[in-house]
Amino acid sequence: MKTFNFPLALQRSRLLFRRASGTLALIILGTSASDALASCEYNINSDWGSGFVASVRVTNDTAGSVNSWQVQWQYSGDNRIVHHWSSDISGNNPYTASNAAWNGSLQPGQTAEFGFQGTASGPAEVPQVTGLLCDGGSSSGGSTSSSSSSSSSSSSSSSSSSSSSSSSSSSSSSSSGSSSSSGSSSGASAENLYSLAPFPIGVAVSAGYENRSFLSIAEKQTSIAQHFSQLTAGNIMKMSYLHPSENTYDFANADQMVNWAETNGIGIHGHTFIWHSDYQVPSWMQSYSGDFQAMLDDHVTTIADHFAGSVDSWDVVNEAIDENQSSCYRNSLFYQRAGAGYIANAFRAADAADPNADLYYNDYDTEGGNSNKLNCLLQIVDGLQADGVPIDGVGFQMHVQIDWPSTSQMRTAFQAIVDRGLKVKITELDVPVNNPYASTPFPQYTSYTTEVAALQKARYKSIVEAYLDVVPTNLRGGITVWGLWDGDSWLLDFSNRQGVDDWPLLFSGPANGPYEEKAAFDGVAEALLGQ
Ligand code: XIL
Repeated sequence: MKTFNFPLALQRSRLLFRRASGTLALIILGTSASDALASCEYNINSDWGSGFVASVRVTNDTAGSVNSWQVQWQYSGDNRIVHHWSSDISGNNPYTASNAAWNGSLQPGQTAEFGFQGTASGPAEVPQVTGLLCDGGSSSGGSTSSSSSSSSSSSSSSSSSSSSSSSSSSSSSSSSGSSSSSGSSSGASAENLYSLAPFPIGVAVSAGYENRSFLSIAEKQTSIAQHFSQLTAGNIMKMSYLHPSENTYDFANADQMVNWAETNGIGIHGHTFIWHSDYQVPSWMQSYSGDFQAMLDDHVTTIADHFAGSVDSWDVVNEAIDENQSSCYRNSLFYQRAGAGYIANAFRAADAADPNADLYYNDYDTEGGNSNKLNCLLQIVDGLQADGVPIDGVGFQMHVQIDWPSTSQMRTAFQAIVDRGLKVKITELDVPVNNPYASTPFPQYTSYTTEVAALQKARYKSIVEAYLDVVPTNLRGGITVWGLWDGDSWLLDFSNRQGVDDWPLLFSGPANGPYEEKAAFDGVAEALLGQ
C-alpha cells in the first residue's frame, strides 16, 4: 500500500477532502492479452456537500491476465483529491492513478478497487468516463454510477469497507503493522490506519502538563500522525482544566494540542463541556451561589466559541444518566442545581456558539449489556429530539470487557441510535483482556500470550465490524480508542483493576514491551478492510 504522508484535514466531524470527478480513462499496461480491455466503474461512496469519498473499480474483462494498469481523469470543476488509498495517484487535475504494488496483476474477471477522498464546493461531481481502454465506459461509468452511489452510501457499511476490500485482498505484501510478538501471523497491516476509514479514527491523548504528554514524546507524535485522523484530550479539555475559576478560562494547554493537530491535518473531538465526576467539576462551580443555569450556559458558550472552527465535534454532556434513578438522571451537581434541562441547554448553547460542530451525548455502559441504561439513554434522547434540541449523535464510550457485552447487544444499541437518525460515535474504546466482573478469578490472564492477543484481536475486529454493519456511512461519527500505548491506559489506575496489566489498546509499550502495533491493531485494520 502506498504511504500517504498527506494528513487528513478534518472539519466538523467529517473528513474534509477535495472531490474528484470528470474524465476517467483506464489504460491497461503490460497485458498478456492481445486486445486487452478492462472496464472501470466510478462510484461515489459518500457525499457531504463539501467533500466526498469515491472509489474506482477496475475489472479485467479480457481473456488474459494484466500485470499493471493506469487510470487518468480530469475534473471540470473545483474538485480536488486530498487523500487516496490502494493506488498511486499523481498529478493535480488531471490525475493519474497507477496500481499499487500489490494490485496490478489481474486475472481475467478479477477486480481491483481503489479509493480517494476529495473536496468540492457543492454536490460531488460524477466523472465522465471516457478513456480509450475503458470500453467506452463514459456513460455507464458516469451517470449510472452516480445514482447508484448515493444509494450505496446511505444503505450500509458496504461502501467504506468495499472500497478498501481490494486492497485487503493482497495486503500481505504491505508490511508495516504486524507485530510478531502480538501473535498476529496473518494480520492486515496498514501503513495508515486512518486511511482505511472514511470517518475519523481517533485516539485519546495526554497533553499539557500531564504525565507522558504526547507533545513531549516524539515517538507518540509519529505514531499518532501516522495512524489517526482525530484526537480527543484524555483530560485537558474537561471543565476544571479549561475553567479553573469563575472568571478564568485557561486554554493554553488545549490550544497547544489543537495547534499540533491542525498542523498535522488531524481533527479534534472535544471532550467535554459538562461531566459530573467530582474532581473534574471545578470547586468554585460546586459552591456557586448565583444563577447556576446561566453560569453553565456561559461556560459552554465560552468554550465552544473558543474552539469553534477547530473541533469536529463535542461530547456536550458526559455521563448524565443513572439508570437506578426512576428519572434516569444522575443526581449530579448540575441536575440538583439546574434540573434535567441543563442537558438541553448545553446542546443549545454549544450549537449557538459553534453551529458546525457535531454535538454528542456521551456515556458508558450504554452499548447494550445494561438494558436499563440503554433504555434510559433512549428515553433521554427521545426527549431531546422531541424538544427540537440540536443533538447530532450519541457517543458510546465502549470501555467494554473482552467478553462483555456481546456484539449482538452492541448492534442493538447502535441500531437504536441509527433508527433515530442520529450519528453513532465510538468515543473511548478499549478492550482490557481481564474482566473484574467475570465469574472466573481475576485477573484471568497474567501475561499477554499469543492466544490472548488473538482473542483480543478478534474482539476488536468484531466490534468494528458491528459498527460498520449497523451504522450507515452518513451516520458514522468515527471510532476513537482511549489511549495510544498499553502502558499509558487509564485502566492501570482504575481501582477495581488493582493495577493489573490489561493490555487494552492497539499498541504495546512503553513499560510492557517495545512500542509496536499489536494484533488488536490488525483486527481493526482487517475489519475496516472488510477482510
Ligand atoms: C479518564 C482519564 O483517562 C483519566 O486519565 C482520568 O484520571 C479520569 O478520566 N469516561 C470518560 C473519560 O468520559 O473522560 C474518562 O477519562 C474515562 C471514562
